[in-house]
Formats: sequence, C-alpha cells, structure tokens
Amino acid sequence: MKVGVVGLGTMGAGIAQLAVEAGLETVGREVTDELGEKARGRIEHFLSRKVEKSQIDSFDIGLLSLTTDVSAFAECDVVIEAIVEELEPKRKLFAELERVCRADAVLATNTSALSVTEIAGATSTPERVVGMHFFNPAPLMPLVEIVRAERTSDGAFGTAYALGERLGKHPIRCHDTPGFVVNRILIPLLNDCVRVLDEARVTPADLDAGMKHGAGWPMGPCELVDLVGIDVHVHASEALWEKLREPRMAPPARLVAMANAGLLGRKSGRGFYEYGR
Ligand code: 3HC
Repeated sequence: MKVGVVGLGTMGAGIAQLAVEAGLETVGREVTDELGEKARGRIEHFLSRKVEKSQIDSFDIGLLSLTTDVSAFAECDVVIEAIVEELEPKRKLFAELERVCRADAVLATNTSALSVTEIAGATSTPERVVGMHFFNPAPLMPLVEIVRAERTSDGAFGTAYALGERLGKHPIRCHDTPGFVVNRILIPLLNDCVRVLDEARVTPADLDAGMKHGAGWPMGPCELVDLVGIDVHVHASEALWEKLREPRMAPPARLVAMANAGLLGRKSGRGFYEYGR
C-alpha cells in the first residue's frame, strides 16, 4: 500500500511518521522543500528515539518521499489531507486530488471539526471520501475516528478503517456530525476550562494542576490547548459553534485574542506558557 499525506505540519508529519513506522511507502507534500525537509527531520528524530528506547528495531526513512507537487499522489492507494483547518482550501485540494489520483484511490481528511460531506462535495466522486481524524500527538495518541460522510462507500470506509489499524491505531466508527465523537465533547469542555480561568481568577498553572490532580487528566487544559494550537482550537470551536449554536461551543474571547496576537501555543513558542525553541 502506498500512502500520501498532504501537509506535513504537526498532524501530517505525525501521520507520515506512523506510515513510515508501519513500513508503508509514503509520499509527503509540503508547499516548500524547506518545510518538507523540516518534517522529515522531525520524523527521523522521533523514530530514532524509538529505536534508542528499543520500542522498534529499525525504520527505513527511505520509504518517505517528499514533494511540493500534488501530482506525486498519482499512484497512492490512500491520500490523507492534513492542511489548514479551513473549508475552502480543503475543498480546492480535494477537487485537485480527484483529478490527479487513481480512480480507486481513497481520499481521507484529517479535519477536526469541519464537515467531511462538505469537503467531499467538492469532488464528483464523494463516495471515495472519508474522514480519518487523528489526535495530537498522532504518533502517541491511540485513537483514530473513521468518519462516514453522507455518500462514503462501504469500500472506502473499510479501507480507511483497515489503514487505521495498520498504522497501529484503535479506530472507532462514527458519522459526519459536528466534532464527530471526541471533539464534540472535548472542545466545549476545554472552552469551559478557559472561561473558568477568568471566572475563578485562577492561574493557568493552578487550573492545569486542578484538572490533572483532581480529575486525572494526563495534561492540564491550558497545556493541552497549547499542544493542539490555539489557532487550531479556535477554528474547530468556530466550526462547532457555526453548526450547533450552543454558547459553550463559541471560542472564548481570551483564546481569540491569543490567536490574533500570534500566541499559538507550543508551535509559536508561546501560548499559556513559554516554550524553548
Ligand atoms: N512521535 C514519537 N514520539 C514522540 C512524539 C512524536 N511525534 N512526540 C513526543 N514523542 C515522545 C517524546 O520524545 C518522549 O520521549 P523522550 O522524551 O524519551 O524522547 C515520549 O514521546 C514521551 O513524551 P512525554 O514524556 O511528553 O510523554 P507523556 O507520557 O507525558 O505523554 C502525551 C504525552 C501522550 C501527549 C500525554 O500527555 C497525553 O495523553 N496528553 C493528552 C493529549 C490529548 O488529549 N490529545 C488530544 C488533543 S485533541 C485533538 O488532537 C483533536 C484535534 O482535532 C484538535
């Protein structure tokens, strides 16, 4: 099986890493060679750490080929999209993928909260479009949601499910509803946490300690939003709010202000916390 990954940011690089680790030929696309090389460096680093820690025997980074050109996906069996979390760029990409990919290739989106059906609607073959929603950090989080859009075929759904298993994940099946399963619950919950910061006049560190030590979370909500990316969380939150109109879904003003100020969390070096770069 040959897998394509479009966008090698945090999520895309993590997905490409899983594919390489699973021994699959992988084509990764970024907009510049430099960004592609940066992702390859990250993938090599994490896989080398796994070898050092005896979690895997070896890996073959030669399985990963980099490109800036979408036509390099022509021979892929499955292409997973992990680009910016906005509907129009995704729809444009899927229309392009439909043109360049084999007719039997499955086209998957890693969208967090956009409608897979609306993305699929940009193609004339929506039956081969499916959601494959990984969680951040993709190499460490065991879950992948396999999302059935209105017109997804059983064949495409089955291929995506099997690929999820092949990548070592625990797939769950769901339908194309806003936020699918986990984000439908997690995003308003994280929004509540951020609102509590102001309401209870508690510091991010104390709120995080509260949820870790009082609710058993593996990391605190502020650390988690910093990891996910403030901008990614705001986009997902806006998408849920647009569809469901529940006040808890709307992104808290504090997060919108942080996103506008470029405080995006770990990836920008500063969010609720500061990170060495
Ligand atoms: N690939 C492989 N290994 C990686 C890695 C990667 N991309 N990133 C980090 N690691 C490695 C680190 O290198 C580290 O090993 P090393 O220090 O020996 O080199 C190892 O993983 C463990 O790192 P940590 O000590 O940080 O690991 P923890 O045991 O603390 O667990 C965690 C980290 C799994 C992230 C845990 O804190 C956790 O489960 N947090 C919650 C994450 C979560 O909820 N994610 C979901 C977010 S919501 C989402 O993604 C949806 C989206 O649509 C918005």
